[in-house]
Amino acid sequence: MKAFLTSTAAAICLAGCTTAPAELRDAPAVQAPQSTEDARVADLISRMSLERKVAQLIQPQINSFTAADMERYRFGSYLNGGNGGPYGDEYAPASEWLRLADEMYLASVKPLPGDEPAIPTMWGTDAVHGHTNVVGATIFPHNIALGATRDADLVRRIGEATAVEIEVTGIDWNFSPTVAVAQDDRWGRTYESYSEDPRIVAPLGAALVEGLQGRKGDPDRLGAGHVIATAKHFFGDGGTDQGVDQGEVTGDIEALKTIHAAPYPAAIGAGVEAIMASFNSINGKKMHGNKSLLTDVLRGELGFDGLVVGDWNGHGQVAGCTNTDCPQSLLAGLDIYMVPDDWKGLLETLVGQVEDGTIPMATLDEAVTRILRVKLRAGLLDGAVKPSDRPNAGQLELLGSPEHRAIAREAVAKSQVLLKNNGVLPLQAGANILVAGTAADDIAQASGGWTLTWQGGGDLDNSYFPGATSIWSGLKAATEESGGKATLSADGSYGEKPDVAIVVFGEKPYAEFAGDRKHLGFTDEEGLDLLRKFKVEGIPTVAVFLSGRPMWVNRELNAADAFVASWLPGSEGEGIADALTGARPATGKLGFSWPATCDFGPLNGPQGALFPVGYGRSLEDTSATPQLDETCAPLLEGPSRALFESGRLADGAIAFVTKPNITGEGELLAQMRGDITDAGVSVRSVDRNAQEDAREVSMRAGSRFGLAQDRDSGGAYRIAYEVMTRPTAPIALRVGEDAVVDLTDKFALAHGKGWREMLITEACAPGLGQRIRFETEGDISFRISSVTREDVPEGTACSF
Ligand code: BGC
Ligand code: BGC
Repeated sequence: MKAFLTSTAAAICLAGCTTAPAELRDAPAVQAPQSTEDARVADLISRMSLERKVAQLIQPQINSFTAADMERYRFGSYLNGGNGGPYGDEYAPASEWLRLADEMYLASVKPLPGDEPAIPTMWGTDAVHGHTNVVGATIFPHNIALGATRDADLVRRIGEATAVEIEVTGIDWNFSPTVAVAQDDRWGRTYESYSEDPRIVAPLGAALVEGLQGRKGDPDRLGAGHVIATAKHFFGDGGTDQGVDQGEVTGDIEALKTIHAAPYPAAIGAGVEAIMASFNSINGKKMHGNKSLLTDVLRGELGFDGLVVGDWNGHGQVAGCTNTDCPQSLLAGLDIYMVPDDWKGLLETLVGQVEDGTIPMATLDEAVTRILRVKLRAGLLDGAVKPSDRPNAGQLELLGSPEHRAIAREAVAKSQVLLKNNGVLPLQAGANILVAGTAADDIAQASGGWTLTWQGGGDLDNSYFPGATSIWSGLKAATEESGGKATLSADGSYGEKPDVAIVVFGEKPYAEFAGDRKHLGFTDEEGLDLLRKFKVEGIPTVAVFLSGRPMWVNRELNAADAFVASWLPGSEGEGIADALTGARPATGKLGFSWPATCDFGPLNGPQGALFPVGYGRSLEDTSATPQLDETCAPLLEGPSRALFESGRLADGAIAFVTKPNITGEGELLAQMRGDITDAGVSVRSVDRNAQEDAREVSMRAGSRFGLAQDRDSGGAYRIAYEVMTRPTAPIALRVGEDAVVDLTDKFALAHGKGWREMLITEACAPGLGQRIRFETEGDISFRISSVTREDVPEGTACSF
């Protein structure tokens, strides 16, 4: 639907336009609202104050504002984010999510003076594989698995079930589906992509939109059982150089569109109401400031008339912008700024920029129109009631209901891709099976990132997943039902020799840039060791590989008798047993090419693939798999001991800023870049020996900035640094949790002397540990080009 009706359009208008009032049909093009919908919105806007119009554009996250702030400012929307839960509790029960939804809604609709309308707010969440921020929700397989099913009807049903579970908690809006077309599996978000082929992505993305929102034309569209959907991230997220998250996409724009924008017409055709702008840049320009793509292509060429929401401080990455100052994004076509923490500064700046004419009032009004139109369609403007009075709200039995779990189980079974089978599958009724590997009974690992927490995994043991079934539990139930016997043995030890061993292993959970890898060699050898051990003992094996992407696993493929790409199946582990026993025939087909080698080259596409897109055996296909080459150069190097090197964070490393009074890692910096204004830290790329191979860190008094590894790789820290400003107050390096190295004098000496190296050993930082953190009591600015760890002889002194 176009926002305004032209007289030509009126002339060719068929069914659906009959409601346009007769007197409007011949009115001048630009002033004539097309529908009662637009007239309704125009009336509201005409009665809104400037500040509250701007507030419609502001989307803060739940832990950075209160209900009093909502009442004072009237944010158009808000989000929880991957690490946010109501009242500061990520694991809060569903009833608490609903309580917060009510509280914020009621604050947003408190009557305003005079004639000004109070516009209900809305809450957006990342229910990207079920409503998985909430304890007890059904955890569906991630998109990469759903792509392997090719089953749009299944994906639609997943969307419907997810929408209902979202409604239970009173939330209005889902930031899903991701319709990225991942082109390089080293990208940490590959698992959020249905396929490397846009022809597979497009229908599945559209199906999820229909499931979440309801089908166009259906009376319950956006009504009971439905929420607003978001296609993301527009566009090019899956096309960055070397698969670097939030990175740069290069190439001919029309060619890029045929891959990365290809899923959008389908999503728009399915009626998606929101589209999220992507973090990446295209040919040097960040999408959040790219008018020709956000406006001319998205709204013009593709005819999108819903709202465009930004990504997490994505506007702050536009050249010349900060998190609190970025008219460029609105002018480029962004409607909502996702500004988790710095909402106040941004709101004030935008108001000023409308007042001084930097932003034309008409541009602001257009953005507000698009936001209110979506609210109107979603039933939020007419007779809206508080979240807990809406359909499905508070019906806690719907969260993780048996019906929803049955859909997830079906999805798990249908998404298993059988890559090898010497005849050990299907599992025989009555068999004695041994289930090995620490991942077998680990629901968090099977669920991957975006599960209760942003990164998933970590400390989440099975007690965090009430109602869920681990892979082990599913196998046990199926085996016992068939009259057989199942034993769980993480380390593969056994008493009675089993008929078959099932080894479950794979990647540990990650999300976004924390999952970026330099190569696709699967280096963890727990599964490999188990497979080899069973081979020696003459026990046939089935490898169940959990991963967010295809990886080089030639060694495991050689060692196993059967190999299943299981992806990230989620909470319904019985689906794996269904596929392995043949209770539900294995029909999964690869949506991504499987790599034959572990080199660093571009990885997708048919060339050089071990298994191409579309590959997947039936249980009956027991044809031989040839012995595969096991050489892999990156494996010989051993795991990297770097945290930051060559301009990028190493695999498994994070950079973070902790605000005063916060313990732990605090706010993360993608690619070790960003401004955390309220903590007073800014980290930007600078050149030392190569383009953007170093970072300049500017810290204000009281701030903290650090780096950590996901595991402790041991050894001394070697840090290449240059001090840019002379310290005016104490600055220290905290190593691990307890050791504090005073840098004040060292930095004073190093100032103005160019690049230097410091070596931090046990001598000045006893215990060392997996994280370091700079803590300063005065303003300071320094540069870092590498942080690595190395073994040094015992007793080596620290040097600076
Ligand atoms: C991600 C988005 C997500 C948003 C809110 C961002 O970092 O890129 O996909 O919707 O955070 O959690
Ligand atoms: C949030 C995520 C977000 C990420 C971006 C996290 O703290 O919880 O939702 O995507 O930061 O940096």
